[in-house]
Amino acid sequence: MATILGIETSCDETGVAIYDEKYGLLANCLYSQIDLHANFGGVVPELASRDHVKKISSLIQKSLFDAKLTKNKIDAVAYTFGPGLNGALLVGATVANSFAYSLGIPVIPIHHLEGHILSTFLSKDTPQTPFITLLISGGHSQLILVEKIGSYKILGDTLDDAAGEAFDKSAKMLGLPYPGGKYIAEHAKNACEIYDLPRPMQNSQDLTMSFSGLKTAVSLLIKKLRTENNQTILDSQLIANVAKSVEEAITDILIKKSLKACRDNNIKTLVVSGGVSANLTLRDKLAKHPEIKVFYPPLELCTDNGAMIAIAGSMRSKNAHHRYTFTTAPRFLLQNLEGIQC
Ligand code: KG4
Ligand code: ZN
Repeated sequence: MATILGIETSCDETGVAIYDEKYGLLANCLYSQIDLHANFGGVVPELASRDHVKKISSLIQKSLFDAKLTKNKIDAVAYTFGPGLNGALLVGATVANSFAYSLGIPVIPIHHLEGHILSTFLSKDTPQTPFITLLISGGHSQLILVEKIGSYKILGDTLDDAAGEAFDKSAKMLGLPYPGGKYIAEHAKNACEIYDLPRPMQNSQDLTMSFSGLKTAVSLLIKKLRTENNQTILDSQLIANVAKSVEEAITDILIKKSLKACRDNNIKTLVVSGGVSANLTLRDKLAKHPEIKVFYPPLELCTDNGAMIAIAGSMRSKNAHHRYTFTTAPRFLLQNLEGIQC
């Protein structure tokens, strides 16, 4: 029974966690850089790397403190090797390898997207393979067939923007902060009207998704509402209505394609993961489909964190090794993991 320290630094969250195979998650420390990047409207890679450097040591200390462990009790260090911003990944890789080297314990490089998928195993109710996974984050929208852990066959992808990106861009047009998914969801609760927005690729015979047409439609809708209501900035009711319309359109697309993926492959288990899986409207709508059983990560572990890397390290322990290199792979594809000793 191993105790694993997980380190996540692929983008703008510094995450450190400790997962114990016997006792579960013992610590989960997260520092979000959102305020740092807020004025730039997106993540600035150089600032992200520097901030990871500043925060990571204290997060490791805090994780050990929260878990009531000394560093000698850690059996392996799992860290995100990709995909992500290279400078940011290098911080995690360097710290993870140095920490492991100093203790003579192995490292386990983890693919960030596999971390999202396996974070579902931190929930009480866990899925069994085979399953279909809907992986929806700020940079990805994929439907994947998982016949066994470590084998990921991409069934469908987005042609353009990711689902999270569609939420974020719509939020930006509405003047809401970045990343906008959770603000869209909050405002949507106050809606009193739903406007008609397109559901691109809805009737295509494949599992391809597309969200960029939606973005254009949202922009036109906002302009129309401004003119009709003689408002330079939409009032809170209209923002709520647009937010709800966006949420409905995105979740409709995701659900339709997920159900098709399950049907086409005769699979009744769906695992939804990645930041957008925190969306409660999506969860409520999927609950109306008793023909499939849906699994999610715990709500607070849907967005980037160290816990998903720590549990993935535990499930990927055969990849543990003592070659301490600072190698990262900013563009590594999930489907290329099969058969690879990272
Ligand atoms: O997985 P994640 O933390 O980072 C990436 O690996 O990209 O996902 C971040 C994305 C953002 O686009 C954010 O707006 C979205 O997840 N998100 C949500 C919600 N919470 C986060 N989207 C919709 N509803 C939410 N409640
Ligand atoms: Zn992520």
